Amino acid sequence: MAAERRTCFIAVANHKGGCGKTTTVVHLGAEFARLGLSVLIVDLDPQANASLHVGRKHPSEVPVTCAELLLAEPEKLPLAIHDDTNIEGVALIYGSLALGRTEDQLRERTPRPAEELRSKLAPLDGIYDVVLMDCPPSLKLLTSNALAAATHLIIPVISGSQYGMYGVTDLMHHVGMIRRINPGLALLGALLMRHDERQTVCKLIEGTARAEIGRLLPVRISTSTKVEQAAMANASLHRWDRSAKVSREFHQLAVALAAELQLSVSGEEDE
Ligand SMILES: Nc1ncnc2c1ncn2[C@@H]1O[C@H](COP(=O)(O)OP(=O)(O)OP(=O)(O)O)[C@@H](O)[C@H]1O
Ligand SMILES: [Mg+2]
Repeated sequence: MAAERRTCFIAVANHKGGCGKTTTVVHLGAEFARLGLSVLIVDLDPQANASLHVGRKHPSEVPVTCAELLLAEPEKLPLAIHDDTNIEGVALIYGSLALGRTEDQLRERTPRPAEELRSKLAPLDGIYDVVLMDCPPSLKLLTSNALAAATHLIIPVISGSQYGMYGVTDLMHHVGMIRRINPGLALLGALLMRHDERQTVCKLIEGTARAEIGRLLPVRISTSTKVEQAAMANASLHRWDRSAKVSREFHQLAVALAAELQLSVSGEEDE
């Protein structure tokens, strides 16, 4: 009998702002899709940067975003999912500014405010291969909801900055707390962003990340102007410039993670 298909729910979290969470969600998602996997991005950030990149609509025009989904009846889930996006094979649940109020509303209205997303996304288990959750730069309820709904966690860390590891102890403590309600949450590792192995600061951050987070992902992402350009063009890095080093790195990352997660890939694996 064929094994039951299970979905990998991957939270991309670090409360340090600008460390590459959204970039990781968008381009890892795009590369998973190129491997033939079905991908859903869930944007939990009021800044809605992933939605502005991937979505075809402005978040303010979308009736059911993550904010409404978290507070609505479970039947609203199909209305929240948008298959028509700028990245082929990637569906999207939009984020929106309204998420700014959602944490207070969750606390007022729900008995287990950190577990709403998990219960709302539960029907998707087995439907998508990968659900990637983009977290806001905070350790509050929206991030807790992503961590409680996740089977796996990626922590992007800027390796090209001496402050790249700032706050990671708090993050690891928070992950430990969330494991009380989500004991199966598995750490895939720290993802070194803006990495340049020739730079001393990058080597130092790499060592500290290994020691404090415990696990490093096998691919590092270098600094590239293509990242900003792809966001401005609402494109995947592959579509924007497939020959760029950073495009190949995200491809390698997707291949490595698909192997670790035992996702059966097809299509453009060997490019
Ligand atoms: N490898 C890279 N090379 C160059 N620029 C990058 C790289 N990764 C991310 N950036 C840029 O750094 C900025 C922050 O990245 P990103 O938005 O992915 O971080 P974030 O963690 O999601 O931020 P926030 O905490 O605000 O949600 C963006 O302008 C992005 O284009
Ligand atoms: Mg972001």
